[in-house]
Amino acid sequence: MTDAMRLEDAPMPPQFTHLKDFTSSELMGLVDAAIALKKAPPSCKPLAGKSVAFCFMNPSLRTQVSFEVGTVQLGGHAVVLNLGADTWKMESEEGAVMDGAAAEHLKEAVPVLTRYCQAVALRSFPSGKTWEEDRKEPYLTAFKKYSTAPVINMESATGHPCQALADLMTIKERMDPRGKNFLLTWAPHVKSLPMAVPSSAAEIAAAGGMNVTIARPAGFDLDDEVMARVRASCQASGATLRVTDDVQGAFEGQHVVYAKSWGSIVDYNEPLPAAPEFRQAWIVTADKMRRTKDAVFMHCLPVRRNLIVRDEVLDGPWSVVIDQAENRLHTAKAVLLKLMTGDLPR
Ligand code: CP
Repeated sequence: MTDAMRLEDAPMPPQFTHLKDFTSSELMGLVDAAIALKKAPPSCKPLAGKSVAFCFMNPSLRTQVSFEVGTVQLGGHAVVLNLGADTWKMESEEGAVMDGAAAEHLKEAVPVLTRYCQAVALRSFPSGKTWEEDRKEPYLTAFKKYSTAPVINMESATGHPCQALADLMTIKERMDPRGKNFLLTWAPHVKSLPMAVPSSAAEIAAAGGMNVTIARPAGFDLDDEVMARVRASCQASGATLRVTDDVQGAFEGQHVVYAKSWGSIVDYNEPLPAAPEFRQAWIVTADKMRRTKDAVFMHCLPVRRNLIVRDEVLDGPWSVVIDQAENRLHTAKAVLLKLMTGDLPR
């Protein structure tokens, strides 16, 4: 097969790289399948004889282990690669003169991987140079372009769709999300973090029919395209969308509180405000949780205790973060089954 045939003529394999590429009902189908898998794992091995390459350019605990274990539980074989450490350093740019650190181009590496493996997955965080460049997601884009097998996004600059499935699953296990109130609250951190998780959390909550409130300090708005999708989903379901810097008031009446730190697009990759009173204002406390309608507290993990959220919340009755992390396993299996077999349990 020539490059031209593969890139232009071959049908695009199924992918799970961005929530926006799926309808709300398709996303609900994946979540419902994950709930079914949690109750009754498949008795056969639907991925027998199949391998998946999980490629990491950044650290991970939950994503790596849940996908690796999930693949094995479905009868498949997981190949975990830390790109640039276990492999050659990779180039993504078309036409690059490769006289730097990268010894291999993704134009070869990805098709080679997909001759061995029946799906590939990538974690590639933003570089932090400019948002304009980072939002193009050069490594994930190259994986999608050069892969002849399904591609899974295990967190890129603009989204963490696998985390979002586990988030909605965790909510759905506790309540019908439609018409319930979801707060995404910005949190302090020692460094400027990517916007992938909060963007996907807001998108999946809106897709699930929830009223979405985003509490963030001025200057920390999410990407305009993400907000446009959240707004459209809320309008479609008749839900509300509110963005506020009134962090205390934002907790009133919430059913779900989702804390996450993220960096500013306007002061891209600059250090976050660190004044004690500012951190105190934005940390999640028991007092704030008591303003809610007995809300559950969610965080994707890893979480910095007593910077993002107080111990009293994480160790208290509100926290569902361990269940949320467990659900990464069940949703990972739903994604693998959907992409690699086309079948989902009901
Ligand atoms: N939530 C999440 O993606 O965790 P890891 O970064 O540990 O994979």
